[in-house]
Formats: sequence, structure tokens, C-alpha cells
Amino acid sequence: MARPKIALIGAGQIGGTLAHLAAIKELGDVVLFDIAEGTPQGKALDIAESGPSEGFDGCFKGTNSYEDIAGADVCIVTAGVPRKPGMSRDDLLGINLKVMKSVGEGIAAHAPNAFVICITNPLDAMVWALQQFSGLPAEKVVGMAGVLDSARFRHFLSVEFGVSMKDVTAFVLGGHGDTMVPLARYSTVAGIPLPDLVEMGWTTQEKLDAIIQRTRDGGAEIVGLLKTGSAFYAPATSAIEMAEAYLKDQKRLLPCAAWVDGAFGLDGMYVGVPTIIGAGGIEKIVDIKLNDAEQVMFDKSVDAVKGLVAACKTIDPSLA
Ligand code: APR
Repeated sequence: MARPKIALIGAGQIGGTLAHLAAIKELGDVVLFDIAEGTPQGKALDIAESGPSEGFDGCFKGTNSYEDIAGADVCIVTAGVPRKPGMSRDDLLGINLKVMKSVGEGIAAHAPNAFVICITNPLDAMVWALQQFSGLPAEKVVGMAGVLDSARFRHFLSVEFGVSMKDVTAFVLGGHGDTMVPLARYSTVAGIPLPDLVEMGWTTQEKLDAIIQRTRDGGAEIVGLLKTGSAFYAPATSAIEMAEAYLKDQKRLLPCAAWVDGAFGLDGMYVGVPTIIGAGGIEKIVDIKLNDAEQVMFDKSVDAVKGLVAACKTIDPSLA
């Protein structure tokens, strides 16, 4: 059977890391697309040349032509600009909206059957715009945010409790921004919910609150340290987890920015919710119950995403 084809739209920091991870995990042949001449070609060749030592097979092609993504099974979109210190994800809206238009049209023309994972920020608005511009079915267009936010939460918790990251589960819902909703009640250490761990005296509510805030600020913390760009290792790993779930029909239950119409009382919008990813794309949205406090936070996050979508419609009236 032919290897799956993975198209990476954007060959910058995240795009290059995605290609390397896809190679090492032998997920398929990789096409790196970018408007910058030489960058995707150079990264593709460099990764291919790591194959003999690492021991993977696969084709790696860098290109500036959308024709080369023809028939891709998965497209992962990082095209656009990342933030600089002091910028919020929302500051990227105008520039990256234009990028989503060209990317959406390129995917629609050459890879209309792909499962599309958007990483470009501001995430929830960009994945919505990408779905609109591409016209692909909503269950095949998804945003990567919750897996990353949850991974950050899990990492901080594992350090706090001194336990393996493997034994920490965490759920972060809502938009990928300052209003994201880390759900302590649905996050556990080896199945023990975080509020129980506070009651047991293993941590304090203050420490837990600080970890939740650090999770919300997780992207900004890295931007502040790097100064020249934003995070790329963990975002790429999170998107690869989603791509693998689709390619291998794993039915993973992962928080993703998905089209929600009916669940969570929403009437058609992209926002971070628990989803099941398998061969059908987003196969199910898991409509978990929120308590009053969680609902207030989720509603606030939903409003923030709606505001960004409204701003997109003002910038590009064809989206209205
Ligand atoms: N089509 C294709 N590629 C484009 C386009 C376009 N219209 N516009 C820009 N690019 C490319 C740039 O040439 C660059 O190589 O997108 C790439 C972006 O790479 P980086 O600047 O290194 O950014 P990265 O860290 O990979 O982040 C990309 O993901 O997490 C988000 O906020 C982040 O929106 C940003 C995106």
C-alpha cells in the first residue's frame, strides 16, 4: 500500500518540526510547502538526509507550488506569522486571515479530501476562516489548540506532583487564548481528580490556581523567552498526535477546535471541545457537563472567539 501523503503548508519553525516528527514516526511521505523560496526545499533535503542515521524511509519534497500537495491525505497548516513579545495571538488576525484565504483555496483545488489541521493563530478564528475559504466538510477541518494547552497543563502538574507525565491527564477547553478553560475537575493524576488531590493535601488550591494561570499564559511564557518567535516543538508534537489519530483511525479523545453545532448549547462555531478523531475526521463531539463556574468561563471564551470571527467578517466581507 502506498504511504500516506502529508502536506505541511508553512515550512517555518513548526512546519520543519512537523516534517521531522512525521519522518521519525514514519507517518508517510511529506511535502513541505511555503511561499519562501528555498526554505521548504532545504528543510526537506536536510530531513531526508537524516533518514540513513535515524533509519526511516519516505519521500521528502520541498515546494513553492500547490500542485505538489495533490491528493494529500493530511494537510497541517502553519502558514502565517507568529507573535513577537508583547503581541497577543489576536494581533495576528488581519495578516493571517489573508494567508488563510490563499491556503484554503490551494487545499480546495489540490487536496479536497484531506484531513486539515490548522495551527495558525489566532487559532479558533483562523480554523473557521480556513474551513470557509476551503469549503471542505467541517468534520475534516480542525484546529490544534486543546492538545497543546492540555499538554502544558499536564507538564506543570507532573512537576508539581513529582509523577510521570504519563499518569497525568488534563482537559483544557474553549478558545486558544487568555480565556481558555483548564478543567480541574476533569483533570487527574492516575484517575484521581485534581480537587480530590487538594483535599488529600497533596497540593494546595493556591498552587493549583497558579498552575492554571501558567497554563493560560503558556504560549506567552515561551514567546517572552525566545523573543524572536513562538513555541514550535510542543505545537508540532500536538498536531502530529492528531494527524496520527486520523491516519491510524485511533478514535483518540482529544480536545480540539472543532465545528460545534448543537453540543454545549452552541449554534455553529469553532471552539475547543472534547472530540473523537478517527478515519472520518472529527467523528464525535463529547458534550460533557460543565458546572456553573466552568460554564461561566466557557461562555466568556466563546464570546472572545465570536468577537474574533466578527472581526474577520469586517476585514473580509466575503466571509459574512
Ligand atoms: N503561504 C504559505 N506559507 C506562508 C504564507 C503563505 N501565504 N505566508 C507566510 N508563510 C510561511 C512563512 O514563509 C514561514 O516560513 O509561514 C511560515 C511560518 O513560519 P514561522 O514564521 O517560523 O512561524 P511558526 O513558528 O512556524 O508559527 C506559525 O503557527 O502557532 C502559530 O502563532 C503561530 O501563526 C503562527 C503559526
